[in-house]
Parts: sequence; structure tokens; C-alpha cells
Amino acid sequence: MNKEINIAILGFGVVGGGVAELVEKNSSLLGKRLGRKINIKYILDLRSFPDSPFADRITASFDDIINDKDIDIVAEAMGGSHPAYEFSKECLSRGISVITSNKEVVANFGPELLRVARENGARYLFEASVGGGIPCLRPFGVSFAVNRITSVDGILNGTTNYILSEMTQNGSEFSKVLRRAQELGYAEKDPTDDIEAIDASRKIVILCALAFGVMPKASDVQRTGITKITPDILTAASELGCKVKLVAHASVDGEKLCLKVEPAFVSKKCLLSSVDGVFNAVSVTSDALDEVLLCGKGAGRYPTASAMVADILEAGLRKDEQLNVHEIRENDMPCASLDEFSGRWVVLFEGNEEESFAELFGDSKIKLIPSIGLVAVLTEEKLRGEVSRLVREQGAVCHGIFEYK
Ligand code: HSE
Repeated sequence: MNKEINIAILGFGVVGGGVAELVEKNSSLLGKRLGRKINIKYILDLRSFPDSPFADRITASFDDIINDKDIDIVAEAMGGSHPAYEFSKECLSRGISVITSNKEVVANFGPELLRVARENGARYLFEASVGGGIPCLRPFGVSFAVNRITSVDGILNGTTNYILSEMTQNGSEFSKVLRRAQELGYAEKDPTDDIEAIDASRKIVILCALAFGVMPKASDVQRTGITKITPDILTAASELGCKVKLVAHASVDGEKLCLKVEPAFVSKKCLLSSVDGVFNAVSVTSDALDEVLLCGKGAGRYPTASAMVADILEAGLRKDEQLNVHEIRENDMPCASLDEFSGRWVVLFEGNEEESFAELFGDSKIKLIPSIGLVAVLTEEKLRGEVSRLVREQGAVCHGIFEYK
């Protein structure tokens, strides 16, 4: 057997701890695949863990790691942009491969870190940054490589999908389910990132980069979270045979990137409708494959750690081969405004009869839902801007405009 592969894990939280456990538990399996043993040499964390089986490997000093010439791979699971970005860049510039679950760093600095990795013969791998344990990034460089991708849609946040599923299926209260999602290790340190769709925006820009070769900023994404989803809106969705899901979308329309994350009414005919609880899914539409749905657990200790350990294996096997890395450039394309998105839309109005909506929304299906005093208008294909204009003209109190999928 050749020399061991020495790794360091940055962050001993939910994900970093899961990586350490999985590497130890499956060390003989990993050793067989790699032809070399994997050794966890350091775990970086400011806290101490005297009762942990890894206690002797915990250090609070990044210098211990970066100055150790034997480190081959660093698994970054710190969360947040800083110092995770600086640490990752430092490792890559010294030829140490970095694997990460940190979508914030990938979304903010991905093109630069990939460049540094390439220039120094290292790998920068981030399968765990989108879709938790789902192998949803590597296929872009391999299985989809000869496809022209037209759009990517996804349920990309486990916390919000869990909350919406629990509210729909069990009538649970938003704040209680959010607390449960935090206990289960699904939610971000600041769950605002989850419920305001900031986390999903970061993930859709990463998917956009792999699908279309440009990495926009997460702030370029048209974004609406789930905090305004009321039990009445969930009832209206179910009356229309739909579920409310936080859906992310990326496509290219002419010269513009179309990027959004917002709650949508997902009908049973859409593959995403069966994706419930902490599950995530990425749906890729392309010329040869048509639609492919990749689905699995999108958050939590072991699913995310599983994707990270798979990347450790990949980095250990192929240091020189940038198999799943496209040329990704910083975004130089304009992004569409929300008004420019085309689709079918559900508009929920306060009202007790259908007639007053028929004149303006003549080509739409109109359904009265007396139990909640709302009227649902389901439009044909229209620009979102046109729907907003009609809503203003109608004048009735509007409880939301949702894409119908
Ligand atoms: N908070 C994230 C989620 C964790 O709920 O999806 C996984 O990225």
C-alpha cells in the first residue's frame, strides 16, 4: 500500500462531525476503493470536545493544518463565507484539494477557487453544497455533458420543504416545525437563510454555473421566501390539486439569465410534487435526455456527510483530472426581472363570487373556495408582469401570485 491519505476537517459541527464518523466507520471500504488508507489527522474547531473519540485530533489553529506538508485533502464544513473562503484558497494555492458543503463560499467565490485549484493541480469539489446527499452536481460534467440544457428546476432547501410538508400534511404551526428542523440539524445557523430563500438562491446559482457556464450572484436571483405562506394558501393549493413548494429555477432566455426562487403551486403532473419532507430534488431538462429528476435527502448530518466523503474519495482517486469541473466564468449576462418570467400563474383574491373576475381574467379558470373566502384564478401562459398589471386593475385584495407547475 502507498502512503496514507491525510485529511483535515474544518468544522466539527453537524456536517463535519458526520464526515469524521463516516470516514472512520467506512475506513476499510474507502481504503479498498482508494488503495490507500484515509487518516483524519486534524479537526479544526474553536470548541473542545474532551469526550469525543476524535478529541486528540482537534485543533483550534489553522496553522497546524496548513503548515503540515502531509495534508492531502481538506474537508471544509465551517459554514459562512469567512474565514472558510480564505482557508480554502490558502489550501488550494498550496496544491491541497478542498471539498466543501459550504454553498455560501461556492456561490460567492466558486469561479475564483476553481481557477486557483486548476492552477495548482488540486481539486475543488462541492457536491454536498447542493441537494445534501443527492449526487446532483457531478452528472453535469459527465452524464449531461453531451446535452444542451434548457432549464434546471429544483426543491433545494430541506428545511423549507420539511416545514411546508408538515404544515400541509399535519396542520403544524410554522414556528414549531422550524424549531424541529433546527433540532434535526436541517436548518442553517441563522434560519433566515432557509425561510427567506437565501440558501436556495445560493444553490440555484451553483446549478446555473454547472448548466450554463456562468456563475451569477445569489443577489441576482428573484427571491421570495415562505414566511407569508398561510394555512389558507395551503388550503387553496390543495383545492386546486396542488402542493405549495419552494421552487428554484434557472434558464437562459435569449441573452438573459432567468433565475428565481419562490413558493409555487405544484400540481400532481409535475415530478416535483412528490418530493416531501427533508427531500430535495433537481430536475434537469435538456435536448437529448428530456427531463431527469435527481432526488434524495437534501439536508442533515449523514446525507450531507455522504456527499462530502464521496468527494474525498474522488479527490483521492483523481488529483489531476478535473472531471466534473467546467470552465465557469463570473456572470457577464443580464438577469431577467420577475415581470419577464413567463408561465401559468395562480392568483388568490379575497372574494365570495367568481363573476367579478371573469371580465379581466377571461381566459383563466376561476374557482371559488368558500371555506376560506378566497377566489383562485389560474391563468393561461402569460408574462408575470402582465398578471401583476391585471391584479392592480382588478383592485380586489390579493393574497399572492404563484407560478403553477
Ligand atoms: N439548511 C439547508 C437546508 C442545509 O435546509 O437545505 C443543507 O444545505
